[in-house]
Amino acid sequence: MITIIAEILLGLRATLHTSSAINTSEAVKQHKLLVFTTIGSYYHESIPFGIAAIEKLSRDNEFLVDATNDSSLFTNNNLKQYSAVVFLSTTGDVLNDQEKNAFVRFIRSDKGFVGIHSAADTEYGWSWYNKLLGGHFMSHPIQQNATLNVIDRRFIVTKHFPKQWRRFDEWRSFQATR
Ligand SMILES: *[C@@H]1O[C@H](CO)[C@@H](O)[C@H](O)[C@H]1NC(C)=O
Ligand SMILES: *[C@@H]1O[C@H](CO)[C@@H](O)[C@H](O)[C@H]1NC(C)=O
Ligand SMILES: *[C@@H]1O[C@H](CO)[C@@H](O)[C@H](O)[C@H]1NC(C)=O
Repeated sequence: MITIIAEILLGLRATLHTSSAINTSEAVKQHKLLVFTTIGSYYHESIPFGIAAIEKLSRDNEFLVDATNDSSLFTNNNLKQYSAVVFLSTTGDVLNDQEKNAFVRFIRSDKGFVGIHSAADTEYGWSWYNKLLGGHFMSHPIQQNATLNVIDRRFIVTKHFPKQWRRFDEWRSFQATR
């Protein structure tokens, strides 16, 4: 799981740098991530390790991180300071209607989202979030080796992968977008 976080955030870092390259005063401005975790319906013991891994990435790659499990921080005003929100192993229903509205507005203002692990096992009843994810978690078989065929090696988040990537992990099935 840690490797996947690293890969995703390196892609995100590249994205953030690209988007700020046009304006030199923007380029020196440090990007800030909000890492959101919750106990929800199932607590993943990997959460503190995930936060530590993202904090290490932030030190190595010069962005800032706030980590919280407090959904009341999802307000228009507070979210403004962040370049992206990370749902780190969230589960179940995590935001109330007002917080959802602030998050939708944040995404529509061209900001980023990273969903890690059970972010896809979160907010099943919220169809906007379902579309943001591209599909909710359905099930997973026992952990096993898989060979991933990387079909888009130009996309910024996947371009550093080899054509075929072999990895032992908890592979998942997803429900189609509703
Ligand atoms: C560059 O970014 C800064 C900080 O956000 C902004 O104040 C300034 O107007 C921008 N300059 C240009 C040329 O877009
Ligand atoms: C939030 O984090 C604090 C401090 O780690 C913990 O005591 C609390 O139980 C957590 N609450 C939720 C809802 O996750
Ligand atoms: C997965 O692949 C690794 C490296 O090839 C191998 O050592 C390991 O035994 C494999 N695990 C399973 C469960 O097949």
